Amino acid sequence: MLPFFSSREEGFVRPMRLDHVPACVAIHAQSFARGWGADEFAALLQDSTVLSHVITDGQGRRVDGFALSRKVLDEAELLTIAVDSARRGKGLGRQLLEKHLETLRAAGTASVFLEVEEANAPARTLYGHLGFGVVGQRDGYYAKADGTRARALVMKRNQ
Ligand SMILES: CC(C)(COP(=O)(O)OP(=O)(O)OC[C@H]1O[C@@H](n2cnc3c(N)ncnc32)[C@H](O)[C@@H]1OP(=O)(O)O)[C@@H](O)C(=O)NCCC(=O)NCCS
Repeated sequence: MLPFFSSREEGFVRPMRLDHVPACVAIHAQSFARGWGADEFAALLQDSTVLSHVITDGQGRRVDGFALSRKVLDEAELLTIAVDSARRGKGLGRQLLEKHLETLRAAGTASVFLEVEEANAPARTLYGHLGFGVVGQRDGYYAKADGTRARALVMKRNQ
């Protein structure tokens, strides 16, 4: 068996619920310089323009990642996506984003936008493989922990 495929794992993508929030807060904190608190996740969950998913194990007990998008008319913006740092590189991010995009498409979304740090190779690979292309850039968009600022790329996918 090829080693690359042997590390793949099947995840289960489900709508995010309030009881998933503590795990999402922990994953967000490991993934981004400015973590989101439980109140921020809870507010997004109650926002009717926001679509949110988690990826879990078969029983739904362990949350391995999450994705949230805001949909306005026929456009959506991917607000955030992250996978538990201990469980990356197993195909979970791709399964999560594929299902998330499928749900957005079913809800009538014609295009999806996102911003990604130029140097974020794993995220850019994932987005590129799922049909996102670069349509713009924002210089100095992200404040880095070391005081420098990083460029964001704006990416778009036609659904
Ligand atoms: C981006 C992220 C969600 C990807 O999740 P993941 O579960 O590791 O992704 P997958 O294992 O499904 O890999 C997705 C693709 O990226 C590629 N990839 C994974 N890690 C990579 C790396 N370190 N460098 C380059 N490509 C990589 C994989 O080969 C895979 O390609 P494939 O779909 O053709 O097989 C995860 O790295 C993460 O949570 N990062 C921190 C948060 C973040 O940066 N979010 C994006 C903000 S814009």
